[in-house]
Amino acid sequence: MKKILVTRKLLRSNEDKLKSLYDVKLNLNDELYSQDKLIELSKGCDGILSALTDKLDDQTISKLPESIKILSNFAVGFGNIDLEAAKKRNIAVTNTPEVLTDATAEIGILLILGACRRAAEGIEGAKASNWKWSADYLIGKQLTGTRLGILGMGRIGQKIAKIARSLGMIIHYHNRSKLNDEKENGAIYHEKLDSLLSVSDVLSVCCPASKETINLINKEALEKLPQGAVVTNVARGDIVDDEALIDALDRRKVYAVGLDVYKGEPNLNPGYTKHKSAFILPHLGSATKETRTAMANLAIDNMTEFFETGGCKNKVN
Ligand code: GLV
Repeated sequence: MKKILVTRKLLRSNEDKLKSLYDVKLNLNDELYSQDKLIELSKGCDGILSALTDKLDDQTISKLPESIKILSNFAVGFGNIDLEAAKKRNIAVTNTPEVLTDATAEIGILLILGACRRAAEGIEGAKASNWKWSADYLIGKQLTGTRLGILGMGRIGQKIAKIARSLGMIIHYHNRSKLNDEKENGAIYHEKLDSLLSVSDVLSVCCPASKETINLINKEALEKLPQGAVVTNVARGDIVDDEALIDALDRRKVYAVGLDVYKGEPNLNPGYTKHKSAFILPHLGSATKETRTAMANLAIDNMTEFFETGGCKNKVN
């Protein structure tokens, strides 16, 4: 029986499935393992079921035991893993696409609504009972007729586009390549990021984090947005330069932000906390029972496929 290290606590049904298939080392207290501890615990294991909170960088991967053949990441994103380093060691890396598209797109829409309609301020006012109705109380931005710029039109971007369209938003997007007519569904393609930014009354960051996209939304990019734009990010904190975004909020270049992800999670840059217009969530994208169950099942199935065939359709390196 193959031996697997599972770095984070999973839902009960997923842990039961793992136990029926593998000799598993579970993380019953859901401790956040240091890199050294992860290396130590992986001794004697054939694979690791990792999470986005595990930093599997070059150094860590180079110290993993020879017996490790697969890193099955419990996430669609794999910016936490150095793919090249894994490849050099002949370790396969897999992810969990598709199963989290709907849940993550729902949060993407929540960010747009929350930021545009001033939900953070509204919740604060309601809880403190210190608000009073008036014709101009917490006037926000209406989505109907507003241009939504989607950066990264993969599955999650396409689902956000579909819902946003039904809310009356006009969809623009930038992607490595133009989609076919069916997938595009009337959305307007921008070959250049700058061109997308110039029409994004609301920006939705949906692209994967990679060497190419780190800090892609920086000071220069933010300057290209229309005055008073709204910036939302449902992808990865690494893609946005927080200091530049906070500065844009300070200068009112940016009207509001909606973030489900940010750099250095869980520690939020204190620059955001002074902004009432910052609608910020603690990385909830895939956090529904159905989705987390499906993700872990897929991470397990990825391992099984790999051990049985030597390959996996969700291999990313
Ligand atoms: C969640 O953020 C994921 O990448 O799965």
